[in-house]
Amino acid sequence: MNFQNEIVKWYKINKRELPWRNTTDAYVIWLSEIILQQTRVEQGLPYFNKFLAHFPTVKSFADATENQVLKLWQGLGYYSRGRNMLFTAKQVMEIHNGIFPIQYEKLIQLKGIGEYTAAAISSFSNNQSKAVLDGNVFRVLARYFGVEEPINSTTGKKVFSELAQSLIENQKPSVYNQAIMEFGALQCKPKSPACNICPLQINCYAFKHHKVDVLPIKLRK
Ligand code: ADE
Ligand code: SF4
Repeated sequence: MNFQNEIVKWYKINKRELPWRNTTDAYVIWLSEIILQQTRVEQGLPYFNKFLAHFPTVKSFADATENQVLKLWQGLGYYSRGRNMLFTAKQVMEIHNGIFPIQYEKLIQLKGIGEYTAAAISSFSNNQSKAVLDGNVFRVLARYFGVEEPINSTTGKKVFSELAQSLIENQKPSVYNQAIMEFGALQCKPKSPACNICPLQINCYAFKHHKVDVLPIKLRK
């Protein structure tokens, strides 16, 4: 079985039940992805539920005051995320008549939505074939395929994004993107991953070459 099919098979057995995986509402997915930036799932989960309860639609979010948003955000850190979200919600009201966009090309033009978030929202809501690249994905790809380019060099970014995009091609984008991130979060973890019980072990470059603790390579800048 190839890498992609092993990842998806592993995911179906091992995935966590997370509320943002049961929706195709781009607004709800956006909410979850911004909250989960720089935040662990366990910490972000109650905030996601709280925000969704207060602001069930992008219109209700856009109508909030900055103080309301910051009050709900309290304890999460990186408060600029909360402020930027209000700006993005207002942009969606003005530019897209309150319909949260589901196309990568439209999402990437909104404030606070970068390549990762645009790929996540467009794949989860719309099954657009855009590979996500976050810390989890960099680590899994670097180890399994033996990519030794630094993840934060110009060449490295290009190599990883081309590899990631080639892998998603014949997969269901929403499932595959969730699967590779979950694999990185739960199985191919930064420290002491459980390689001895890993379904990808036989073809894993890092395992074979004793480089699990070395990859991915990140330049100190
Ligand atoms: N971290 C960031 N996005 C996530 C998602 N969609 N599911 C689980 N963890 C995540
Ligand atoms: Fe990651 Fe280890 Fe599995 Fe390789 S064998 S993919 S390093 S968990």
